[in-house]
Amino acid sequence: MSDFLTSEQLPGLIQAAYIIAGILFIGALAGLSKHETAKRGNLFGMAGMGLALVATLVLAARNSQFGDQRPLGVTMALILVAMAVGGSIGAWRARTVEMTGMPELVAMLHSFVGLAAVLVGYNSWLELRDLGGSDAVHDVEVFVGVFIGAVTFTGSIVAWAKLSGRMTSSPLMLPGRHLLNLAILVGSTALAVWFVVDDGELGLVPLLLMTALALLLGFHLVAAIGGGDMPVVVSMLNSYSGWAAAAAGFMLSNDLLIITGSLVGSSGAILSYIMCKAMNRSFVSVIAGGFGSDGAISGEERDYGDHREITAADTADLLASARSVVITPGYGMAVAQAQYPVAEMTKKLREKGVDVRFGIHPVAGRLPGHMNVLLAEARVPYDIVLEMDEINGDFHETDVVLVIGANDTVNPAALEEPGSPIAGMPVLEVWHAKDVVVFKRSMATGYAGVQNPLFFKDNSRMLFGDAKERVDDIVRALG
Ligand code: TAP
Repeated sequence: MSDFLTSEQLPGLIQAAYIIAGILFIGALAGLSKHETAKRGNLFGMAGMGLALVATLVLAARNSQFGDQRPLGVTMALILVAMAVGGSIGAWRARTVEMTGMPELVAMLHSFVGLAAVLVGYNSWLELRDLGGSDAVHDVEVFVGVFIGAVTFTGSIVAWAKLSGRMTSSPLMLPGRHLLNLAILVGSTALAVWFVVDDGELGLVPLLLMTALALLLGFHLVAAIGGGDMPVVVSMLNSYSGWAAAAAGFMLSNDLLIITGSLVGSSGAILSYIMCKAMNRSFVSVIAGGFGSDGAISGEERDYGDHREITAADTADLLASARSVVITPGYGMAVAQAQYPVAEMTKKLREKGVDVRFGIHPVAGRLPGHMNVLLAEARVPYDIVLEMDEINGDFHETDVVLVIGANDTVNPAALEEPGSPIAGMPVLEVWHAKDVVVFKRSMATGYAGVQNPLFFKDNSRMLFGDAKERVDDIVRALG
């Protein structure tokens, strides 16, 4: 073992393992971009991470051989115990989390990456200071890494609190909030100059002050974003966590961490851009925080008239006599776990010759691709699951639309009411169909807290109750 660790080929082997892991991560991202190849993408990602872990363990063992005060066995035991504890908690959470709890779990995981970057930054700077001081390049790496990490940390915690309902989803609109963000950026830049110029003990002061400012900035940026715009925040924090990891890679001189962090950072940024386009928001204002609703907290209380109701049996009759049906699922389908009876109902209707398709809004549910994952899990064929842009022109020729647990994503107020918090967000224009049946439990608003005029339109009827139970009723009625 000791010969292997001190052999001259080892650094080359570790680099080779890192390159292969990097290629596997790129393969993972490519695979995850399509439903059909997503599983393969996950396998690539797992293989890459396994290889990276083994190579990093070997590297740690080698470093421990050269110059570390601790015996090799103790170093390895510490790492393995930390991995076993972290891995067990991770495996337990992954097994127990409900699909509807995934968004807040993801937000929480992003916060860990941010915190790790902060700790790595402090550790790396203090270690070099004890060895006689770090150079300007390393100081900049530490400063930027700690800054991004701290913003990611508190931003992700606020996102977790908002997504899990522990904090209001309404935007926090402080007076002069953009000026506050600007002041924090200017202050941090001044502290960066002090930090790099100072060679002595006092260097810790600007680092600590900047960390406090960055923690405040992360909190404020995300707190200022309203509920309906949270999807962009989740993908933006995903991107920030990648850049935080890349910054940690620079501080630790670990090439694979730099590559992996950059992959996560850039794919998160591309996803944020796609989300911004889907929601008709400006990318720059996302980065600045508090975009979109611009002070509008909830829609005005308007009287849209009365709603009408329908029974499951009548809905089954309506469906059986239809030629074309479009199903638009939303967060309520995930809550009710209604995807299995929905798949069963789809199968029965298709056997009767009804043309059934699905219309998926890009931010339906609480995660990018949330509805696609649920429908794939229930084995709904991919070719009848269409994106919003692919199906929006077809509602005029659709006989029946089933809105199953969706609300904001089918809300005409986004197009018809300029003062609404969701104004400008493209939605599934289901109201153009001949008949619309809305499955939900009450007349409550959706995630953005805006009432939905769709429910009061002449061609809409409400089918109240848990979505799974109501779809089960329809499946039984269809025979
Ligand atoms: P929402 O607007 O969240 O509405 C879901 C509806 O489902 C609610 O009105 C609720 O009404 C109903 N519901 C809940 N449980 C149900 C059950 N067991 N059975 C039947 N209905 C049930 O849904 P959406 O249209 O999917 O829109 C998503 C919203 O989340 C958007 O505002 C989006 O911006 C935001 N968001 C999305 C993401 C991503 S990345 N997708 C991330 C964060 C936030 P009742 O309570 O009356 O039943």
